[in-house]
Amino acid sequence: VKIELRRESDVPLYRQVAVQIRDLIRQGALAPAMRLPTVRALATELGLSRLTVHSAYAELHSQGLIEGIVGRGTFVSAQLPRTPIDTHGAHEPQAPAPWLVRGVLAELAELAQRRELISFAQAIPAPESYPLREFRRALSNVLDDRTAYGYGAIQGDLALRAEMSRLLLERGIVTAPENILITSGAQQGIAVTLAALAHPGEVVLVEEPTYPGFIELAAQRGQRLVGIPRDADGLSVDAIVAACKAHRPRLLYTVPTFHNPTGAVIAPARQAALLKVAAEHDLLLVEDDIYGFQTFDGPPPLPLRATGGEERVIYITSFSKALMPGLRLGAVVAAPHLLPDLAGEKHDLDLHCSPLLQRALANYLRHGAFASHLQSTRELYRTRRDALLAALECYLPECTWTVPAGGLSLWVTLPESLVEREYYFEALDHGVGFARGQAFFPQPQSLGHMRLSFGGLSPQQIEEGVRRLAGALNALQHRRLEAVRVTRDRLPLV
Ligand SMILES: Cc1ncc(COP(=O)(O)O)c(C=O)c1O
Repeated sequence: VKIELRRESDVPLYRQVAVQIRDLIRQGALAPAMRLPTVRALATELGLSRLTVHSAYAELHSQGLIEGIVGRGTFVSAQLPRTPIDTHGAHEPQAPAPWLVRGVLAELAELAQRRELISFAQAIPAPESYPLREFRRALSNVLDDRTAYGYGAIQGDLALRAEMSRLLLERGIVTAPENILITSGAQQGIAVTLAALAHPGEVVLVEEPTYPGFIELAAQRGQRLVGIPRDADGLSVDAIVAACKAHRPRLLYTVPTFHNPTGAVIAPARQAALLKVAAEHDLLLVEDDIYGFQTFDGPPPLPLRATGGEERVIYITSFSKALMPGLRLGAVVAAPHLLPDLAGEKHDLDLHCSPLLQRALANYLRHGAFASHLQSTRELYRTRRDALLAALECYLPECTWTVPAGGLSLWVTLPESLVEREYYFEALDHGVGFARGQAFFPQPQSLGHMRLSFGGLSPQQIEEGVRRLAGALNALQHRRLEAVRVTRDRLPLV
C-alpha cells in the first residue's frame, strides 16, 4: 500500500490513511477481496501508532469499503458500495457520505483557527461591522428584567416574535407572531424541519451545489438525498418533476436568494414554476433565506414564501449573516398546522432559546438600528465583492466564477486539469484557505470548485489571498509539467 503522509497537515493522520486507502480502492489499485496489511504491519511501515491505523481501518469498515474476516485478516470488501462520481443527470437517491462531508466541514472550521492563513473558508460577516454600541444599549435595557432569566416559551419570546413579524414585512412576508418559531440560528431551523417533516430513510431533494450543513444533517438523520441541478435561473424544474415521480419526496431544500455557495438568485418565472410543481406533487419547499437581507444593489428579490407560497413553504431565516452569528438566533415561519410539530422538535432539542438574548434582540430591533446596519454593511460587502472580482480577473484567468448580487460568497470553477483536493492542500501551503467544492455536494464530484467567502476580509487581504491562490495554481501546474517532462525524458530514443 503506497501512502504518503503529511505530518504537518491539520488533517488527522488516521483520516489521511483512510482517505488514501479509499482512493486506492476506488481507483481499483486495491481490488475487491484483496488482503490488506495487518494493523501492526501498516503501523510499522508508516511509522504510526497501531491505534491510528486501527482508526483508519474502522472508518473504512464503517463505509463498507473493507471487511475483517476473523482469523484471516482484513480485506477490501468483496462487494463494494456504489459510489457514483457525478450525480448530475443520474437522480439515484443516495445516502450522503457523512465521512466525506464531515471531513470537509472539519477542515473548514480548522482553517478559521489558523492565524497565518488568509481564509476565504467561512461565510461570516465582518466582525468590525457588529453594532456593539446599539446592542449594548439593547442588552442593558433588558438586563434588570428578572423574567429574562427564567425559562421561556418554547416557540420563542413573544416580544421577539412580534419584532420578527414586523421585520419580515420587509421581505414581503405577512405573518402573525403565532406562526413564527424562534430557533438557535438557521441551522436549528433546518434541524427541526427535517426532524418534524421527513422520516429517516426518506428521499429529500436538494439543489446542487448546496449548503453543507444541510447535507450533514440529512446524513445524520439517515435521509437519502437526490440532487437537483441548477441553471442560470435556478433549480431545474424538469429534474424536480422526474425526482417527484420516481421518489415521491415530501421536502425540497433550497436557498433561492443569494444561494450558498454561488450567490445566485432564482428568476421570478422559475419561482412560479417551482411553486406550481410543488403544488402538483404535494412537495413542501424549505426556503432558507439566511442571506435574503444582504443585497448589494437595490432591494433583494422576494422570497418564495411571499410569492404565493404561504401553504407550501417553510421559511427559515437567521441573524447570523446579517447581524452577528454569536447571537444564535433565527426563525422559522410555517403554516399553522405545521407549527406544533416544529415547536415539538425545538422542545426536544433545547426547550427554547435564551430569553435574555431574545429580549435584547427584540429591543435592538424595536429601536430601528437594524435598517441602518444593513445599509452600511451593504456597501462594505459590495466593496469586498468587487475587490474579489477584480483580483480573480487579474490573477486567476484560468478559472470561472459567479458574480453574486448579495450574500457573502462566490463560487469558482477550477480548470479541469486541477484535482480539487490537491489544490486545496497546495493553497494551504501557500497560506490561503477556501471551502472545498466537494463539501457542497452529497456525493463525490469529478470537477473541482472552491467557495470564496469575502465577508470577513479586507480588500487588501482579498487581493493578497487571491495572489496566493494563483501562486498555488501555478506551482501545481508547474509540477505537473515537470512530471510530464521527466517521463518524456525517460523514453528510449529509437
Ligand atoms: C444557507 C445557510 N443556511 C444556514 C446556515 C447556518 O446558519 P446559522 O448560523 O444561522 O445557524 C448557513 C451558514 O453558513 C448557511 O449558509
